[in-house]
Amino acid sequence: MSAAPLVSLRDVSVRYGPATPRVLGHVTLDLMAGDRLAVIGESGSGKSTLALALAGLLPKGAAAEGRIAWPGLGEKPLPGRDIGIVYQDPSGSLDPVMRIGDQVAEVVAAHAAGPTDRSPREQAVELLARVELPDPANLARSYPHQLSGGQRQRVALALALAGRPRVLVADEATSALDPVVQSRLVGLIGRLCDEEGLALVFVTHDIALAASLASRLAVVYAGRLVEIGPRGRVLAHPRHPYTRALMAAHLGLDRPPGGRLATVEGSPPDLASPPPGCRFAPRCSLAVAGCTSGDPPWYGEPDDGAACVFAERLAP
Ligand SMILES: Nc1ncnc2c1ncn2[C@@H]1O[C@H](COP(=O)(O)OP(=O)(O)OP(=O)(O)O)[C@@H](O)[C@H]1O
Ligand SMILES: [Mg+2]
Repeated sequence: MSAAPLVSLRDVSVRYGPATPRVLGHVTLDLMAGDRLAVIGESGSGKSTLALALAGLLPKGAAAEGRIAWPGLGEKPLPGRDIGIVYQDPSGSLDPVMRIGDQVAEVVAAHAAGPTDRSPREQAVELLARVELPDPANLARSYPHQLSGGQRQRVALALALAGRPRVLVADEATSALDPVVQSRLVGLIGRLCDEEGLALVFVTHDIALAASLASRLAVVYAGRLVEIGPRGRVLAHPRHPYTRALMAAHLGLDRPPGGRLATVEGSPPDLASPPPGCRFAPRCSLAVAGCTSGDPPWYGEPDDGAACVFAERLAP
């Protein structure tokens, strides 16, 4: 018998208020132990909303339909304990007037499972070492403004790990960093997931970055999950025209030598008045008349397929 998923979403839709549009619709997916799931899509496609929904962190006033459950975690996760989350901007998680060692120690103490032989302060220094910060005992006495952007993001990662979570959500956590710092942090996140047995949800608009870290890719477009599958299958045989367009744009398939990075032509729809049928149809080079009437059918398995009438022809 296979283990229960850590997080299970069934036909989940989200809106942020009663009179506001649905920004996520009909998402079904499971997050298993050991998974490294990347969520990819353009700005406004619903990636952060999906991440917050699966972490049980949707803001007050948001309404979710469908079923969100955490069978492998027990009850709804406690914020900061069962699911750790790192955002793009570490200043949201860091207190500017508190020494970083004290901040990490505070979270360690808040989520301590029982007595240990090490103080929260000692554990905080260990966590700063785990995220590979130099001279952690000294660094623990620093304030956030004394650190570089990459170091601050490592502290945010230590804070996310301080509750000993089973799942780590990184929402564009490396996007604001320069490429070298970014690739070191991505490497660290991968190692930590292996060493701590963490499942990872890695949210990014960068399919190349996703491909470097994830074992599974989920592609969202205008609030819909349009494709999901193992990394190798999705990259070698993308089944959705949007995934193909993203790959062409970001993996440089259509990029002239020395030329600018290509983008997917056109822009995503206004979620308040989405186009009928497939939401990608207005930008899709394969679209036929039938694409604009009714939701596109799902081709494949729930965890390995795409929502497109051409999916079978694109990647049998
Ligand atoms: N707290 C909120 N209140 C109201 N609307 C929101 C809120 N957060 C997000 N939205 C809207 O929900 C939609 C999806 O936003 P979301 O932040 O999930 O997208 P995203 O894919 O994470 O984008 P980005 O790449 O820019 O971070 C957008 O139309 C956005 O304006
Ligand atoms: Mg976002």
